Amino acid sequence: MDCLVIKGGKPLKGEVKISGAKNAALPLMAATLLTGEECTLRNLPNLSDVRFMSSILKSLGATVETGRGSIKVRAKKIEGFGDYDLIRKMRGSICILGPLMGRLKEAKISMPGGCVIGARPIDLHLKGMRDLGAKISIKSGYVHAKTKDLRGAESFLGGRCGPTVLGTANLMMAATLAKGKTVIHSAACEPEIEDLANFLIAMGAKISGAGSPTITIQGVKKLYGAEHRVIPDRIEAATFALAGAVTNGNVKVQGCVPGHLSAVLDKMREAGVKFSLEKNSIHIKPSKKLKSVDITTMPHAGFPTDVQAQMMVLMLKSPGISIITERIFESRFMHVNELARMGADISIEGPSAIVKGGKPLSGADVMASDLRASAALVLAGLSAQGTTRVNRVYHIDRGYEDIDGKLRSLGANIKREPGH
Ligand code: EPZ
Repeated sequence: MDCLVIKGGKPLKGEVKISGAKNAALPLMAATLLTGEECTLRNLPNLSDVRFMSSILKSLGATVETGRGSIKVRAKKIEGFGDYDLIRKMRGSICILGPLMGRLKEAKISMPGGCVIGARPIDLHLKGMRDLGAKISIKSGYVHAKTKDLRGAESFLGGRCGPTVLGTANLMMAATLAKGKTVIHSAACEPEIEDLANFLIAMGAKISGAGSPTITIQGVKKLYGAEHRVIPDRIEAATFALAGAVTNGNVKVQGCVPGHLSAVLDKMREAGVKFSLEKNSIHIKPSKKLKSVDITTMPHAGFPTDVQAQMMVLMLKSPGISIITERIFESRFMHVNELARMGADISIEGPSAIVKGGKPLSGADVMASDLRASAALVLAGLSAQGTTRVNRVYHIDRGYEDIDGKLRSLGANIKREPGH
C-alpha cells in the first residue's frame, strides 16, 4: 500500500485546478441506468470510486466507454441484481437502488457496509422506496425491493441527523418514472442533488425544487439519453484552500464555485484567513494572525462534515481553544489520534473535539483511516516541521485526483512511495 512522504513547513504558492465532484459523479453515473439510450458524462474525476462505479454499471449489463475525464454509458438491457461483493465495498453504490426501481421496478443489492465514520444505515432509502409502493425484504445481506407499479407519493426523508443526500438522490431518481407526482419533504439541499436533478431534467424528467428542502417530481413514461458536465468538487476546493491557509501560502484555487462552500469560507474568514473570491476561484493569501473559531457540522448549506477534519488542522495552527462538533456522523474523529502523534493537543468530549491550537506540529508516521481524515493528515504534514509519512494512501485516492501531483505543482515537497 503506497504512502505519501511530505517534508513540511513550506508555504504553498501557485494555482490549482479543481476536478469534477466525486459526490456528484456517483449518483450521476447511477442515473444513466434510467434509460436505454446513450448518456455522456464529462468532467468526471479520475478516482478509484468512479472506476468502481463503472464496474458496477457493467456488472448490471450496461456498456461503459471511458474517455479522458468522460464516460459514455448505454444501459440498453440491464438486470436488477447487483454483484454482492462489488456493491458491499463502496457505500456510494447504494445510489443504484433508485434507478433500478425506476427502470425495472425491482432491485436486489447487497447491504452497503458501514465504514469507519459510522454505521451508515439505509433505513431512509428504504422508507422512500416503500412510500413509492415497493415491498422490501432483507435476507442474507441483500436488500430486495420489488413492486408491480411505482406510484408517486409524499415522502418525508428527514432522519435523526437531518436529510440524507443519497437517500434523496435515490428517491428522486425512482420517482422520475413513477406514476403520478412525488413530493420529497426534508430533502437534502447539497449542490450534488441540484446537479443530479439538472441531468435528470436533461433526460426528460420533470423536477422542480432541487436544492431546496422540498422537491417535486412529476413521473414520466420514459427517459432519454443526455449529456452532462459534472460540477466542480466543493470538498476538494475547500481542502486546497485550507492547504494554502495552513501553510500560510499564496494559492489560487481555480475552477470551483465559491458559493458551494460559503460556510467553510465564512469560518475561514472568522479565523483570520485572508482571501479574495472571483466567480470560479478562491485566492488564499498569507495571513498575519489566525484565531480559533468553533465549528459545528450541519447539512448543506451548513458547515460540511466532509471538511471537518481538514478545518481541524487550521485550528491547530490558530492560538487558543476551538470546539469542533460533529453532528452528522457518529465517529468521524479518526484523524485525532494520528494528529496527536504529530504533537496535536486535542481531546474528545462526546460529539466534540476540543482543539488547543497554536503549538507547531512535528512530522511523524501516521495512518490514513478514511478519505477526509487522510486529507487532513496530508494538510498537517504540509504545515508541520520535518517529515510526515501518510500510510494507506488508497483512502485518499478514492476521493482526490492526483493529490500529490497537484500539491507538487504548488511547490509542496511531497512524493508517493510504494508501501511496504
Ligand atoms: C453523502 O453520503 C456523501 N457521500 C458523504 O461524503 C457525506 O459525508 C454525506 O453525504 C453527508 O453530507 C456521497 O455523496 C457518495 P447521508 P450519504 O445519507 O448520502 C444518516 C465523503 O467523504 N442516515 O446524507 O451516505 C447517516 O447515518 C463522503 O465524500 C440515516 O440515518 O450520507 C448520517 O448520520 C463521506 N439513515 C446522516 O444521515 C439513512 O437511511 C447523513 O447521511 C441514511 C442516512
